[in-house]
Amino acid sequence: MVLLDGKKLSEEIQAELAQKVSHLKSEGKKIPHLAAVLVGNDGASETYVASKVKACERIGFGSTLIRKESSVTHAELMTVVQQLNSDENITGILVQLPLPKHIDEEKVTYAISPSKDVDGFHPVNVGRMVKGLPCHLPATPYGILMLLEKYQVQTEGKHCVVIGRSDIVGKPMSILMSRNAYPGNCTVTTCHSKTKNLKEICLSADIIVAALGRPEFVTGDMVKEGSVVIDVGITRVPDATKKSGFKLKGDVHFESVAPKCSFITPVPGGVGPMTIAALLMNTMNASALDY
Ligand code: GUN
Repeated sequence: MVLLDGKKLSEEIQAELAQKVSHLKSEGKKIPHLAAVLVGNDGASETYVASKVKACERIGFGSTLIRKESSVTHAELMTVVQQLNSDENITGILVQLPLPKHIDEEKVTYAISPSKDVDGFHPVNVGRMVKGLPCHLPATPYGILMLLEKYQVQTEGKHCVVIGRSDIVGKPMSILMSRNAYPGNCTVTTCHSKTKNLKEICLSADIIVAALGRPEFVTGDMVKEGSVVIDVGITRVPDATKKSGFKLKGDVHFESVAPKCSFITPVPGGVGPMTIAALLMNTMNASALDY
C-alpha cells in the first residue's frame, strides 16, 4: 500500500510556484494576487481562509483578506465582489462558503468574473470544464487529479465510484474522471444518499472517491483488494486530547481500508493540502485566462 502524500506534493508545487513568482518579479511582471472574502466567524471557515492567505504570502503572491460581519447585506457583499472584479491588481477572488442564510450564495459567487473565479464555481467555469476547455477547475478535484498524476495511478478503463454529488467535489470529480484524458477515461458511477446497494457498487470499484462528509463511512468490507481510495472528508470531531479540542476525520475508516489498497490518501495530509496547491495554481494561471 502506497500513501498518496498530498502534504509533500503540495509543498513541492508551492516551491515551484514560489520560483515562478520570483522570476515574474525579477522581470517586473504582474504578480498573482488573491482576494479572499470571509463573512462572519465560523471556526472552520476562519481556519481555511487563514491557510489560503498564508500560503499566498509564503510563495510571494499578493493577498488581500476582506472580512465582513455576518450582518453584511447582500448588496454590500455584491459591491465588494464588483470592486474586486474591476481592480486590476486582483487576479483571483474567492468568497468563502457557507455564507449567512440571508445572503443569496449563488448570486454572490456568480457575480465573480469567471476568469478571476479561482474556486471554479462560476457556471462559465463549470461549463468550460464539462467541454474540456481551458478554465479554473474546482480546487479539490484539481488537487486530486494532480495527486493521481504524480503517483502515476492508472485510471484508463477503471471503474471509479464517486460517493457524493456536491457541486464542489462529487459532481466535478465524476465529470473529470470520465473525460478523455489522463487522469480520466474511467467508467464512473456517482453514488449519493438515494443510492441502493452502495456496498456492492463500492466492491466493484477500482477507484473510490469518498466525498460525502460522514466520518469513517467507507469501511474495509466495502473495498476490494488493490483499490485506490481517495478520502475527501475533513469532519471535525471533538477530541479533548488536542489543543484545538477536535481532530479531523476522513470519510474512510483508514485502519480497515488501508491494508486492502494499492494507494490511499491519509487524513490529514492527503487531499486537504492539495486543495490549497490547486487554488494557488488557479491563481497563478488566472491572468492567462481571458473570458
Ligand atoms: N467552503 C468549503 N470549501 C470551499 C472552497 O473550496 N471554496 C470556498 N470558497 N468555500 C468553501
